[in-house]
Amino acid sequence: MANKERDSFGSRFGVLVALAGSAIGLGNLWRFPYLVGNNGGAAFIIMYVIFVIFLCLPIMVSEFVIGRRTQANVFGGIRRIAPKSAWPIIGILSVAAVIFIMAFYFVVGGWTIEYILKSFSASFLASDNTALASFFGEFISSPVAPAIMMLVFLGLTALIVVAGIKDGIEKYSKIMMPGLFLLIIILCVRSLTLPGASEGVKFLFSPDFSKLRPDSILAALGQAFFSLSLGMGCMITYGSYIAKKENLIHMSFITAGADTLFAILAGIAIMPAVFAFGMPPAQGPGLVFIILPQIFAQMPLGNIFSIAFFVILFVAAITSAISMLEVVVAYFMEELKMSRRTAVIVTCVIVAILGSLSSLSQGTLKDYTLFGKSIFDIFDYTTSNIMLPVGGLFIVLFVGWKMKRSDVLDELTSGGTIPFKRNILDVTMFCIKFLAPVAISFVLLNSIGLIKFF
Ligand code: PFF
Repeated sequence: MANKERDSFGSRFGVLVALAGSAIGLGNLWRFPYLVGNNGGAAFIIMYVIFVIFLCLPIMVSEFVIGRRTQANVFGGIRRIAPKSAWPIIGILSVAAVIFIMAFYFVVGGWTIEYILKSFSASFLASDNTALASFFGEFISSPVAPAIMMLVFLGLTALIVVAGIKDGIEKYSKIMMPGLFLLIIILCVRSLTLPGASEGVKFLFSPDFSKLRPDSILAALGQAFFSLSLGMGCMITYGSYIAKKENLIHMSFITAGADTLFAILAGIAIMPAVFAFGMPPAQGPGLVFIILPQIFAQMPLGNIFSIAFFVILFVAAITSAISMLEVVVAYFMEELKMSRRTAVIVTCVIVAILGSLSSLSQGTLKDYTLFGKSIFDIFDYTTSNIMLPVGGLFIVLFVGWKMKRSDVLDELTSGGTIPFKRNILDVTMFCIKFLAPVAISFVLLNSIGLIKFF
């Protein structure tokens, strides 16, 4: 099934940084810390890690298997395995989910650019706490400035994706990802050495299960999917560019491990500082854009740390954004026979329109709501809490029950060239066939209220 002209990753390191680049993003730095803050700290982290190991790893392996086996985009790949069936609908749902995610993700990506620029001006961090909080509110609700920043972010993402897999995505990930880890470690050291930091460490690492609410479970599951870029074809698409000799189970462990490590590093960079300055941890989405600038304003060399933090946020966001764009671009190129350039332009137009709507929904369009949620929040909530878990569920069902077991094993062992212990493959197949589908179904049914377990 190999396609000779198809672009692919050039080296193992290149694949790993691209995969980690997709996984590590705003999900780790912007969403994870505020979800931890709102859902009782360490108890949430423990539940999150359990979901990553038992539910997300099997899904990631499954996505890689589909992608690499078929060397095609999310829709085309599933159709090659199950032609003339309803299964390829998963591909359409995936492309839709990724477009909806881009509709809010690129808006936040634009905010990161604004905050990098602001961090260079001495007067910004000289403002008091109230002024910094109202700056965020005024900026995101104004009609033009955040939309322009979103377009700048989109343009930069498009420039990388248009260059292709090896010369674009891989090349830039190799430069950006090591820098990202270095910078976050510097911020962790700064945060941990602040007087009073230990309260924040305690908050992150000593669990209080009484603080978990029933909806924390769905939040943890949705966050795990979101953070690992699962359930919307991203790992199928990247998997299709991975060389046949690579070990897909190892790659899944490394990607999930790097992503979880980075989420915890982000928590360590943020929470001890939040506690050291007596700020509230449960601040919701404004945590990194309001509370952190307030902290930087009181810190010696605050501007430098502020620039470092928002550069981290931007780099993490753009390496994820390229993976989202690639899902849709690969689909347009292979299914609608567009050139890479045209596919990138068409995708950008769609994202620009939806992104502008979700940006405007923070201000001008804020009265247009559904179930009390703004357009921005609808894109965010429905993708992570519904579309991704449902997408992931269908993917494991597809690989576990529709694909031939011998084909799955052939792909996992790279045609029998990787000697796995029998029980590793058995456990992997058990998780894909039974554990992941059953557990995800329970969480989903519970959260939509069809059954009540907790
Ligand atoms: N994993 C990314 C993050 O944590 O920010 C988000 C993401 C990337 C979602 C790629 C979806 C996707 F296709």
